[in-house]
Amino acid sequence: VRPPLRKSREIQGNVLAAFNKDHQQFRFLRFTDGKLGRTWLAAMIGYLSVTADVEDFNEAFSLGRAMFGGDPQTLKATWANLSLTAEGLVKLAVNPSAVTEDLRRRDPELWVGAEARADVTGDDPEEWLFGRSEQRIHAVVTVASDCTERLQAVDTVLDLLDDLLGVVKVHQELGETLPGPLKGREHFGFKDGISQPGIRDFHEEDPHRPGHRLGHAGALLVKPGEFVFGHDTERGDESDRTARWLHNGSLQVIRRLTQDVEGWREALRDHADALGTTPDEVGALLIGRHRDGRPLAAPADPALGLGPDRNDFDHADDPLGERTPCAAHIRKTNPRAFTYRTPAQRRILRRGIPFGPPHEQDPHAERGLLFVAHCTSIREQFEFQQRVWANNPEFAGGADGAPTGTDPVIGGTGGARFGGTDLAFPRFVRTTGALYALVPSMSTLRLLAAG
Ligand code: HEM
Repeated sequence: VRPPLRKSREIQGNVLAAFNKDHQQFRFLRFTDGKLGRTWLAAMIGYLSVTADVEDFNEAFSLGRAMFGGDPQTLKATWANLSLTAEGLVKLAVNPSAVTEDLRRRDPELWVGAEARADVTGDDPEEWLFGRSEQRIHAVVTVASDCTERLQAVDTVLDLLDDLLGVVKVHQELGETLPGPLKGREHFGFKDGISQPGIRDFHEEDPHRPGHRLGHAGALLVKPGEFVFGHDTERGDESDRTARWLHNGSLQVIRRLTQDVEGWREALRDHADALGTTPDEVGALLIGRHRDGRPLAAPADPALGLGPDRNDFDHADDPLGERTPCAAHIRKTNPRAFTYRTPAQRRILRRGIPFGPPHEQDPHAERGLLFVAHCTSIREQFEFQQRVWANNPEFAGGADGAPTGTDPVIGGTGGARFGGTDLAFPRFVRTTGALYALVPSMSTLRLLAAG
């Protein structure tokens, strides 16, 4: 039996059910007129995919795989979802004051936007290609596809629709899975997208390990209200605190994170010499996993079906960070046993995809990660990971309470303690665009479109 949320036709795709496509386009848009914007929205609704669409496809894909013993090559999909910034919601709403009040009450960070929070996240909006307030971005359409031709075809149709209804394309980004053996990796060469929270009522529960997601060793099930409004949260039922029109919607954080691959490799080489080890080993210490995904916390154990992406560890047996340094990226962003408040309230759903060619293909091109995350409190989930854990040198990720230093991947310039040695780092990742938005439910989109 499918857990109930998998059948949702209210929650848009890519929130609970990841698009996971190799080609993804992000269209950053501005409405010139509220009425025309509502007409545009009415037309756009027909292009959007919901959770059930993605889940139906995934089920058919698994079935095909079981029948043919490999990926069914003909089964392809192109999906889209739509988010609105606070400014966009106000622009489309027929009653802007009600929308304003509900947003301010429910998520003040969404209301003020990413630029106003740049001092909290440690960014310089001067470097942003999107998200500065003068750009007045109202909507983001994400189109995800298995093939570039289809993505381009949708792009052409959406361009026409935008032109027809006075919608300005302010900016555009193209995310592409890296080619060949780099597929599934980010630009520093590490496997990405491994550790995601399990979601109660969406993922199946392991009957032998209550509270855990079936087939994903160690993924604890988190209540769905942590990611979608109007559902049970880890603090209980908060649906009363949330205006009805926000129910089945999710907050979206989009960040364009430019990666300095050469700088990263150089630092690994320098530190490897200093520590008397290999650059690969230093890289694994900084991330907390090897490049193929194997966690430092626990070796792969094929006999138990635990491969490189095993996730069933909580560092409780490594209180001082001797195996996985407390400053490693995966321990900084998810300290697991050492989260001083309940860890389940700090999780995010990550939906990022790389942009730009691999370093080997064109060393001078810009490259990085189009980081996308979903949550129901920007301050308590995404910003908490970034500000209180990653950027904060005082945060203690281990039992001895010793400061960890900053996250070597996303914590800005700084340094951290690795295996008893203090290592200094330049900034490898720069934020070059940032936006906070809401992915509304389908009913809310229909209501907004109806005016
Ligand atoms: C995990 C890379 C930005 C939060 C990971 C992993 C890698 C990675 C390689 C391990 C594989 C996995 O579990 O999926 C990067 C790179 C980034 C970046 C290269 C920037 C260019 C961020 C940001 C955040 C974040 C901005 C949030 C503020 C996380 C979380 C995990 C993770 C929560 C999972 C930790 C766990 O549960 O074990 N990242 N990341 N990452 N990252 Fe990042």
